Amino acid sequence: MPLAPTTASPALVRRREALHARLATPALFAAGEAPSRNYPANRYRFRAASHFSYFVGRALPASLLLFIDGRTELFTHPPDPDDALWHGPRPELECVAEELQLDRVRPLVELDAALAPYRGSVATLPTQDAATQELVSRCLGREVRAGTGAALASPLDAALADAMIALRLVHDDAALAQMRFAAAVSAEAHVAGISATKPGKTELSTLAAMLSVLRGAGLEDAYGPIVTTHGEVLHSDRYDHDLRAGDLLLADVGGETPEGWAADITRTWPVSGRYSATQRAIYDVVLAAQHAALAVCKPGGRYRAVHDAAKRAIVEGLVLLGVFRGEVDGLLERGAAALFFPHGIGHLLGLDVHDMEDLGDRAGYAPGRTRSALFGDGYLRLDRDLAPGMCVTIEPGFYQVPGILDDPRRTESLGEDLRRDVLARFSDVRGIRIEDDVLITSDGHEILSAGVPKDPAGIEQLMAAS
Ligand code: GLY
Ligand code: MN
Ligand code: MN
Repeated sequence: MPLAPTTASPALVRRREALHARLATPALFAAGEAPSRNYPANRYRFRAASHFSYFVGRALPASLLLFIDGRTELFTHPPDPDDALWHGPRPELECVAEELQLDRVRPLVELDAALAPYRGSVATLPTQDAATQELVSRCLGREVRAGTGAALASPLDAALADAMIALRLVHDDAALAQMRFAAAVSAEAHVAGISATKPGKTELSTLAAMLSVLRGAGLEDAYGPIVTTHGEVLHSDRYDHDLRAGDLLLADVGGETPEGWAADITRTWPVSGRYSATQRAIYDVVLAAQHAALAVCKPGGRYRAVHDAAKRAIVEGLVLLGVFRGEVDGLLERGAAALFFPHGIGHLLGLDVHDMEDLGDRAGYAPGRTRSALFGDGYLRLDRDLAPGMCVTIEPGFYQVPGILDDPRRTESLGEDLRRDVLARFSDVRGIRIEDDVLITSDGHEILSAGVPKDPAGIEQLMAAS
């Protein structure tokens, strides 16, 4: 497997120019620092903040990028012999400026003085760690909080957030090259996970097979991997179950490139290699819901309509299986879909797996649109009209969550039309999710994660061959 492409500097320059064209004030972006684990020198892996990465393309810790008067300047630690002893030599600042086509690269100690004449007029975005929060607050002379999300402290910052959203919502070719690579490798990891699964093995053994493919191609996890026979726990972070023949295994695993561009893929497969009749019946309902959602994935399609299409297909399928009794419109109005599909159909994908969620719903919701107050719909993270170049996930699911199905507040509107006797026949289905990464194109969409099968026959064939 080749390594991830590197974004060429001219593409980074075009992004910086696009931001300059939208800026009325100076703007400062912090890369952040890796927090220490148990003592200062032992740190967590460094991941640069996504807004910084978007313009710099390299993970440079403790660095800040300043947009000012049409120039772009980077402030960072100069190379230092003590650091070189432990971590290897780093290029001189002039070389960094030349390679990344920056107007200037300056020692970090100069940042304070450089900002002094502009205090009060420099926009920034929430930092991702406390040390950087302190540094940026000091340099800007105002409190900048870490992870403040939608509640941006000043109108300056809100305007910068809106400019970043406008840029990052639609991906350029360099971003798409990164995301295609992340999706292709992550799909290959799923193929490895499917092939490695056997009764008597463990969730951990499948996880290890998947991570081996990601790491081998230089990808880190884009989020905490989910590999579980308890798919009803939507974001399960346990890997301590053995794999038994009757289980379904749900894997939601995606990598990110060294520049931070993410993939987010879920498949659900039978440990035995063959779906039982009941597992297959529900799997087909979820797959139909994904196809129904994908049909709306085209320019001008509204993401809420994508979500609604999936909900309708889930309820239609469950009516056909006898789990619900009644007519689909009425069942939908009574909240039937959220009983088994309690989350949104997906989210933006880019440098963050839930792209720009650090800015709260400002990124995911078009102006004038807000989250629903209804259970299930309220977890929809995106409600924008789709446009070419946007990338979203499409991830319908079916889950039997005891905390929902045993809660009369959730089920009373369905009464006897939720046929628990029929549902009991599907007890070998705890959770199924099928998730793909979808690029909106000028005439429809392209599935970036198509490298791993999702049709049941394709998955069974893969398992039979391994
Ligand atoms: N992997 C997290 C999600 O699908 O949203
Ligand atoms: Mn997702
Ligand atoms: Mn996922």
